[in-house]
Amino acid sequence: MTQPILQVSHLTKRFGGVTAVSDVSLDVTPKETLAIIGPNGAGKTTFYNLLSGRMIPTEGTILFEGQDITGLPPHRISRMGVSRSFQLNNIFNEMTVRENVEVALTAYHGQSRRWSNIASRNRPIQQEADTLLERLSLTDLAQRRAGVISYGDKRLVEIAMVLATRPQLVLLDEPTAGMTPDETHRVTALVNSLAATGDYTFLITEHDMGVVFDVADRILVMHRGQTLALGSPQEVKMNPEVRQAYLGNAEEELAS
Ligand SMILES: Nc1ncnc2c1ncn2[C@@H]1O[C@H](COP(=O)(O)OP(=O)(O)OP(=O)(O)O)[C@@H](O)[C@H]1O
Ligand SMILES: [Mg+2]
Repeated sequence: MTQPILQVSHLTKRFGGVTAVSDVSLDVTPKETLAIIGPNGAGKTTFYNLLSGRMIPTEGTILFEGQDITGLPPHRISRMGVSRSFQLNNIFNEMTVRENVEVALTAYHGQSRRWSNIASRNRPIQQEADTLLERLSLTDLAQRRAGVISYGDKRLVEIAMVLATRPQLVLLDEPTAGMTPDETHRVTALVNSLAATGDYTFLITEHDMGVVFDVADRILVMHRGQTLALGSPQEVKMNPEVRQAYLGNAEEELAS
């Protein structure tokens, strides 16, 4: 059996009286796309914060490729190949789309993030940026200032910047939130095409069930910090507890 890329055991995070993540155990298979769903406050983002090192768990362990990463600082975890999206916080609006990707690549390659030092004259980085922009169908926007492109395109730039760190495990937190149906469709197509390259394992949190059932190999359902269900989309769809706790309103949609 292949070794899981990620092994989470009894992971718990408490904030005072609130248990945001409660005794979650999970093995993630290399190259799979695992969707994490659950109502607001279920603990999805906190789970990511623990995996990426932004928060230290109260209890439990996280192994990435067999190595214990529990409590390591974010930059070390990111270096090892776990990368998450940051909801536009990292985008420089004054720079072009291409320059933004070059900044991320330059940072990854360990050079200074100072603009004067980076990119423009560095051929390999330019080429890598072009490859990434192409993968994300952003080539046409390469020379545009990031501040003026659409919200959906910005989020794609953000994904390009995540991929610039050459992650094996990519954590996407509600990548289609606030997007138009067209933009949402681009993201699902993108995740599917990136997954098909065999280069990435994806964890993706989503409220849009259409997206979830389009991209997921498996689904983890969280409820009040706990694992309510884990299985194939079909299994989760049929799970009575899931229907009752969470999918109730979406039942007709699921049945179709
Ligand atoms: N830094 C924090 N301090 C205190 N409580 C927190 C903190 N972060 C999250 N929580 C609480 O932990 C619980 C889980 O929140 P979390 O953001 O992980 O949920 P979520 O599943 O991502 O929700 P959403 O779907 O709304 O994004 C909530 O009750 C939230 O209020
Ligand atoms: Mg969240």
